[in-house]
Amino acid sequence: MFAVCATVLLYLTSGSHSAPLSCEELVRPLDQLEPHHLEGRWDFIASSISNITFLEIFKRRDSAAVDFINHNGTSTASFIRNRRHGEKCYYHSNNMSFEGSTFTFDDESPANLTGTFLHTSCPDCLLMHFDVQSKTRLHLYLVSRRRELELKEMEEFKAQLECLKLPPPVVLDPTKELCPEQTSSEPAAAQTQDKTDKQKA
Ligand SMILES: *[C@@H]1O[C@H](CO)[C@@H](O)[C@H](O)[C@H]1NC(C)=O
Ligand SMILES: *[C@@H]1O[C@H](CO)[C@@H](O)[C@H](O)[C@H]1NC(C)=O
Ligand SMILES: *[C@@H]1O[C@H](CO)[C@@H](O)[C@H](O)[C@H]1NC(C)=O
Ligand SMILES: *[C@@H]1O[C@H](CO)[C@@H](O)[C@H](O)[C@H]1NC(C)=O
Repeated sequence: MFAVCATVLLYLTSGSHSAPLSCEELVRPLDQLEPHHLEGRWDFIASSISNITFLEIFKRRDSAAVDFINHNGTSTASFIRNRRHGEKCYYHSNNMSFEGSTFTFDDESPANLTGTFLHTSCPDCLLMHFDVQSKTRLHLYLVSRRRELELKEMEEFKAQLECLKLPPPVVLDPTKELCPEQTSSEPAAAQTQDKTDKQKA
């Protein structure tokens, strides 16, 4: 049984050729991250969180996206997450710093959060692995420039979750409306709206 758990085989078929991939190959950090590549809007496709309570909370949103605004060629960026619940949009902004394939958030957030960009075969996706409070909680987020991925790409994500021993993913409904972007020139307004929305909620 141990061997079965330790090695999740994924058959990525291209034409007639099938190659099994080990967890080591499936779950590895991105070789190189070009911060400029992050720029713009990414939609949340699917996610898994080691703590089911948090995964249930994630599941309640209708849609979610993140806007990266690179700080002019530096290794930092604004990371503005949004989520829609019915008619309402909620925004949360962080400053993210990159080093190699890892990232950290430089804010006062109580959650001690570090992350890694993992490799994915999906050409227009980002796979983000969050380590909250020294592995108390692990999050894996698959975001893309597209709203919906191919079956093969979702299969790879599921195999990656198995390797990381994370629960099956919550997949967001690609037909649900997304929140509009915040304008880059108004980070202060974004923050205000976040706080206002939280008070209303
Ligand atoms: C999940 O998170 C909740 C809320 O923070 C916490 O009460 C609970 O103990 C956590 N569960 C596990 C298994 O860590
Ligand atoms: C970005 O950096 C370039 C080169 O350092 C500088 O000329 C430009 O003014 C900067 N732009 C902004 C918006 O800070
Ligand atoms: C991000 O950094 C900029 C420049 O240092 C700062 O003005 C802004 O308030 C920071 N935003 C957050 C959410 O920490
Ligand atoms: C955050 O985690 C890092 C690595 O586990 C640790 O060195 C650091 O002390 C932690 N910081 C806080 C504020 O808990």
